[in-house]
Amino acid sequence: MTQEDYLERVTQYIKDSEDELAQFKAITSYHSGQYDDDASWKSLNQYVTENEDKRGCAPGQRNRVYYMALPPSVFVPVSKGVKKNVYVQDGVNRLIVEKPFGMDTASSNELGKELGALFTENEIYRIDHYLGKEMVKNVMTMRFSNIFFSQIWDRKYIDNVQITFKETIGTEGRGGYFDDFGILRDVMQNHLLQVLSLIAMERPISTESEAIRDEKVKVLKCIPPISPDDALLGQYVAANGKPGYLDDDTLKNKKSRTPTYAALTLWIQNERWEGVPFIMKAGKALDTAKVEIRIQFRNVAGSLYKGAPRNELVMRVQPREAVYIKFNNKQPGLSYGTIQSDLDLSYHDRFTDMKIPDAYESLILDVLRNDHSNFVRDDELETAWSIFTPLLHQIDQRTDLPLHTYPYGSRGPAELDAFVRKYGYDRSNANYSWPVQSVS
Ligand code: BG6
Repeated sequence: MTQEDYLERVTQYIKDSEDELAQFKAITSYHSGQYDDDASWKSLNQYVTENEDKRGCAPGQRNRVYYMALPPSVFVPVSKGVKKNVYVQDGVNRLIVEKPFGMDTASSNELGKELGALFTENEIYRIDHYLGKEMVKNVMTMRFSNIFFSQIWDRKYIDNVQITFKETIGTEGRGGYFDDFGILRDVMQNHLLQVLSLIAMERPISTESEAIRDEKVKVLKCIPPISPDDALLGQYVAANGKPGYLDDDTLKNKKSRTPTYAALTLWIQNERWEGVPFIMKAGKALDTAKVEIRIQFRNVAGSLYKGAPRNELVMRVQPREAVYIKFNNKQPGLSYGTIQSDLDLSYHDRFTDMKIPDAYESLILDVLRNDHSNFVRDDELETAWSIFTPLLHQIDQRTDLPLHTYPYGSRGPAELDAFVRKYGYDRSNANYSWPVQSVS
């Protein structure tokens, strides 16, 4: 690419003003080379050094961030090239690594060992962009700064938790990548498990990054590997004029059994959560696009108001961030019946002047500030893999695990409702719909 092609490519989706764009372009440049060639890395080092000198970089301030958004097969050669030729002694080095961090426990540990030989844990930032999303960052604040939440956040009051990820697009054109990973590795072992750990962890001793990550690791260690009996797997088929998963030209294995949908139930074996199902649902090519956390509370014991639906707390991660609580009221007027309504904090109505940054924007700033809170630590990664690896191996190796088909653009496999009911999720209030949903 030429410098111009590069700038065109990296700025095509930026919506900021012309001025800001011009400033950004003025500090952005392109230099090409080969991943496994020392001469390329040396020339990159020279190029960066010259740029630093031009900008009057102060002694000891050659601070460099290396962002590896690369195919996993080149993580190690690239890290080696950087360490050997570009790593600075008179400044700070930080390495951002994009997923996938391996395919299972063994490959992730191997990758960890190789990176660990080159960079310290403090220099490595394993990025999981869900940790940069506004509502995900809000989980801790909500839980630990509101007395009414902290008091009811356990098995005594919570019946079940659902974390849902839905996308309307399929894997068209990305089948080559996706087929090796499947929905479990693509979004569940990382993004959704990170969300789960924030919902379920104990209160950290402080808001320091290591204190938070310690608690996340602790709660993940209480989760046994997911049993195939707690998994519902699906793959989409052609419908509504859209191609099925297996119709994708980029897919090599035309008989692939890779799941594009999964509902998984995880159990946390500790005093707070024993017996509470944490249901993760994720799928491509579905009817709607949304990510939300739904906490369903237990029925009111000995209720005077028989049949009143359960309370629910919903945190909508996207689109249109919102927190709402479904609760029961007296039907206004002469009736003494109950009616379900909501306490609704829709961000776009309440915080009208606020710009919510993109997840990556906020995480890259965290890297510059040396804040690891929203990045995945090595032991956290290992524990996350230990929860998923046995099931992933079964999916990869067994042909008798049911794989349910679902039409492109549907709610997912037809077996889904029975699956969530099995874990106690009560849709008795299915008639209720959150009003904002209809305009989102
Ligand atoms: C990525 C997955 O990590 O997350 C994609 O590889 C997925 O398959 C994406 O579409 C979802 O991210 P977001 O921010 O669009 O919800």
